[in-house]
Amino acid sequence: MILKDKVIQAFREKYGADPVYLTRSPGRVNIIGEHTDYNDGFVLPMAINFATWIALRPRPDDRVILTALDKNEKLDFGLTGFSKGKGSWREYVKGVAWSLQEEGFELKGWEGVLSGDVPIGAGLSSSAALELALARAFALVSDLAWNPVQMALTCQKVENSWVGVNSGIMDQIISASGKKNYALMIDCRSLKTKQVPLPEKTRFVILDTATRRGLLDSAYNERREQCEAAACHFGVKTLRDITQGQLEERAGILDLVIYRRAQHVISENQRVLDAVKALDQGDAAALGLLMNESHTSMRDDFEISRDEMDQMVAIAQGQPGCYGARMTGGGFGGCAVALVAEDQVEIFKDRVMQEYRAKTGLDPKIYVSSATDGTGFEVLSNME
Ligand code: GLA
Repeated sequence: MILKDKVIQAFREKYGADPVYLTRSPGRVNIIGEHTDYNDGFVLPMAINFATWIALRPRPDDRVILTALDKNEKLDFGLTGFSKGKGSWREYVKGVAWSLQEEGFELKGWEGVLSGDVPIGAGLSSSAALELALARAFALVSDLAWNPVQMALTCQKVENSWVGVNSGIMDQIISASGKKNYALMIDCRSLKTKQVPLPEKTRFVILDTATRRGLLDSAYNERREQCEAAACHFGVKTLRDITQGQLEERAGILDLVIYRRAQHVISENQRVLDAVKALDQGDAAALGLLMNESHTSMRDDFEISRDEMDQMVAIAQGQPGCYGARMTGGGFGGCAVALVAEDQVEIFKDRVMQEYRAKTGLDPKIYVSSATDGTGFEVLSNME
């Protein structure tokens, strides 16, 4: 059963009535531009055909009651005086309520059911999908104006200040603002976006290595601090303000690890700009090469890959019809993304599956993605 029907049916079973609203927000795959967002740089993600769905109706009081169907767990809290708990999906719900209230919005209560198919912890932004689907639900019942970038910022604050991950703005903006059939170039300084066409007769194939990272336990925050240390060395706000030439002038003076972190970010920003040019010209081969270079940079300079991931990327890159492949997302596990000629996708999947299993003993998952619209909603019935 598709998720939309699943949440509607579950809502009916639970409440004996039709839901009033349905909200949906997608996960994302980042095509190129990794760990550049919090350096005020450029990213090029697309929203994917995996999403979080919520079926809901307003309540007359200030309670929020939500059942997570996939976990068979429930959350029930009042919109005044709730507090932080231990990490689970529930913290995102309370976090979104908190962050919207911090923005000065007056929230109303609602009840509903939630389900999603964005693989969790795989680097495909399941948490941003959840946050934006929740924000959409609050906005509907509380009659809030919906500005996608503003809501993305509000949801980023949930990660930064409620959940405790110092993540950038990419995931929330793409989940909120994705467009069907397009990738989105985001300038993470100005927060301006540009829709970029995807190359014809190709598919982005997502390769889940079956290795996991936790953003919290990973070295994500440490990488961010190293980038800040590099920017501080140059006396600038972020690495966006440093050129390759300026960096090279400090070779041998700057701490080697910090130098390599900066090298990744500066070169990755340029690769995003080059990737947008390649896509504007419909040049899949040029984009593929940039993706390969991006992986090397993440592996050697930013050091956020791992053995299984490098194996997966090498296996993908070695297949006929594959233009390029790289790790995607925060790092230390999760998914790679490969750009593959459409007519070779089936054989690509089979071979990558077999070779990866043989080399690592792990059971990968492979998804052929397509670019979808960002956060959306439907009105399903009038309130009685
Ligand atoms: C995670 C973060 C993003 C971004 C990526 C790395 O997905 O949430 O903000 O920093 O890692 O590119």
